[in-house]
Amino acid sequence: MKEPIFREAVGRLENSIRRMQATDSSGHDWWHTWRVRNLATYIASKENADLLVVELAALLHDVSDWKFNVDEKAGFDNVKGLLVVNKLEKYTRPVISCIRNISFKGAGVPDKPGSIEAQCVQDADRLDAMGAIGIARTFAFGGHHNRTLFDPETKPVMVNTFEQYKSQNSPTINHFYEKLFLLHDRLNTVTAKRIAADRHQFMEAYIKRFMDEWNGSDFISEQDF
Ligand code: ADP
Ligand code: NI
Repeated sequence: MKEPIFREAVGRLENSIRRMQATDSSGHDWWHTWRVRNLATYIASKENADLLVVELAALLHDVSDWKFNVDEKAGFDNVKGLLVVNKLEKYTRPVISCIRNISFKGAGVPDKPGSIEAQCVQDADRLDAMGAIGIARTFAFGGHHNRTLFDPETKPVMVNTFEQYKSQNSPTINHFYEKLFLLHDRLNTVTAKRIAADRHQFMEAYIKRFMDEWNGSDFISEQDF
């Protein structure tokens, strides 16, 4: 497909996805998709991956996500429908194979995708789960799903199956231990690892500060004892 025709089709696809995700308040809104597309195409350009497939897969990665569909088939049908209607049907197979296995499924569940294209999209999605934006999305998700903020008596649980991960209902702060702090060690590309280092540190500093305020170590001084 010639570049201007491809760009026009991608523009139409973007508009459809933007409409679908416009009102999401769980951290999976259109601007998450937009950031993942930007990150994924940047990583793909550094890693010599197929840019067209990566861009389409990044745009469509949450359209097929298990959280937003009754089952996996319904999710992939939605992806296929959007590609067909926007005259991008020839990318259906590579795009679906790219987004099939990128989701985080629990601390002990292996999730490294086979192709470099899928690795770029997974890394981009994970980078957007880290740093200042990752923190904001996590609290948005927690509120959206009626999770408690933090309960010092409920310890984080490292699960070994996707079923356990899906049924978890932990306080939002536990998500840092159950997923977010694990991500920097589970990235695929050197490009993403480089970007992740600061984002990881920022989350660690944030949680340290949160615990200091919770425990009072930011206001209780030595003289108080
Ligand atoms: P993936 O992109 O690997 O499929 P998710 O879509 O499940 O991962 O998660 C994306 C983001 O949504 C997380 O990084 C986090 O910000 C938020 N999120 C997902 N699950 C939880 C949870 N149980 N508690 C708090 N935030 C969550
Ligand atoms: Ni995502």
